[in-house]
This record gives sequence, C-alpha cells and structure tokens, in this order.
Amino acid sequence: MDSSDDRRLSVSLVDVTRGREPEFLAISTHFEALVISKEYGRAEMIQDERHPLRFYVVRYWTDARAAERCHRDPEVQALTASLYQIARVTHVVNGVRGSDAMRELLDERRGRIEADRRAGFDRRVKNVGRPKGDRRTARDRRLGPRRVRDCGGEVDLISAARRAREHADAAFSHFKVGAALETANGDVLTGCNIENATYGLTICAERVAMFKALSEGHRAFTRIAIVADTEAPTPPCGACRQILWEFGGNLEILLANLKEEKGRHQLKNLLPLPFDARLL
Ligand code: THU
Repeated sequence: MDSSDDRRLSVSLVDVTRGREPEFLAISTHFEALVISKEYGRAEMIQDERHPLRFYVVRYWTDARAAERCHRDPEVQALTASLYQIARVTHVVNGVRGSDAMRELLDERRGRIEADRRAGFDRRVKNVGRPKGDRRTARDRRLGPRRVRDCGGEVDLISAARRAREHADAAFSHFKVGAALETANGDVLTGCNIENATYGLTICAERVAMFKALSEGHRAFTRIAIVADTEAPTPPCGACRQILWEFGGNLEILLANLKEEKGRHQLKNLLPLPFDARLL
C-alpha cells in the first residue's frame, strides 16, 4: 500500500458492551450504507476472531474532503453518538490528514482499550510512518515532538524520560521525575514534575507529558516511561493513573532509574476497577 492510500484509510477499534451487539450491528450496517450513498467512500466492519466483542471498523475514504464531510454529517454524528453509548472506540489509524477532519476524528472520543495496545493494528500504526508530504525538512525538522529511536528502530522512551527529568523543578521535595509518552504515530512527548510554593499545585511528570500531548492534538498513545533516581521503581501516583487511563487507555508503563529499567506494567493492572466516562 503506498502512502497516498495510507492517508485515506481510517481504522477504529470498537469494544462493544456485552449484550449490545445487535445494536452495534444495526449502527454499523446503517453507517456502511450511509458512507456509500453519500459517496464518502466505503466502510466495513471486521469482528476479532479471538474477542467476539471487539470489532475493527475500517473506512476507505474517497478523499480527505469526503472524510471531512462525513465527520460533519449530522446523520453520521447521530450514529456516532449512539455508538458511544454502547461501545468504547479507539481510533488506531487516522488516515485523513486534512486539518479539521483529523481534529474531529481525534476529538470524537478518547482512546481507551483494555487489551494490549501494542498488538494488532497498533503495530501497523507504527509502521505507517509520516506520510511523504508531511516529512519535515531543514529547520522545520526541529519543530514539535521528535521521534526518539535507538538503533533497533524502537523509540528509546526511557532515555527520553531521563532527559526530561533534568528539567524537573522539585525545589521542595528534591524528588525529580521524568516521563516520556509515546503516541500511536511514534511521536514522543516528555514531561517532568513541577512544584511550587503552595505545594498542592504540584504537577507530576506523567500529567505534564499527557497534557502537553493532548494540547498538541494527540489522542492515541501506546507507552509511557517514568524515571526517578531511586533504587525501587517509581510508579505513577493515583491521580496520574486516572488521567493516563482516561486519555491513554491501557498504556504500557516502563519504570526505570538513571541506570536501568526496573519493570513494565499494563496500566489496567495498576488501576483495577477504574472509574471513567463509560460509567457516567
Ligand atoms: N512525582 C511525579 O512527578 N511522578 C510520580 O510518579 C510520583 C511523584 C513527583 C510529584 C512531586 O513533585 C514529587 O514527585 C514528590 O512527590
């Protein structure tokens, strides 16, 4: 598949609430018909063989404008709203790079997913890379989040978190923490803890990284590395677990100190029985 095709494909992972499958099938059939009749492109839905409540909704857009029109379409929006009543939706491939369309796609709903986010389609997201026309050149290359890769091609998140930690402002606790959050596109956003004289307004490294990412328009994430200068690993605090869960889903959490990695966890194991928008 060449890069122009990549740009017209969107894939969402849909985890349907048990018992609501017939409604999901109706919504999905209606959506597929709409997309064809209004010439937005075509859509298909694939059920995961191993997880009967998990579906992949693939949209092949006619072009970026068609995708944009589709996202603005009130009929589509109504269908999307009913879908969100009965399922969790994670956009794993946002194929349309048109500015508004992209934003709407990503803003529809935060990515949340219970299974290993790095499996299946996420690997595919990582292989897509930056489309040709989007490649940064010359001075622009320095703007915005950078990909931090080691020799193996994998993002070296822990090193990025160590570097971010150097900027920590921990004048009161003297406990410096760095975090590096990887997006589904392979970009890395870093954060460090920032304390202040009231103490209570302190913000942890993980939340700084996540809020930076969200404020830059990122909505799908795979991993976060957390680094402190301690022998025992420093796991995210309760508040950070909540924010990471709500905005990042079941992230892989890499814990490390200045010398070595200290362990990996899935966020769902650190935050069992979470409260989130599904319960509202
Ligand atoms: N801190 C973080 O930044 N992340 C964590 O995972 C744990 C704690 C910060 C908050 C505060 O500035 C300092 O570490 C001591 O609690």
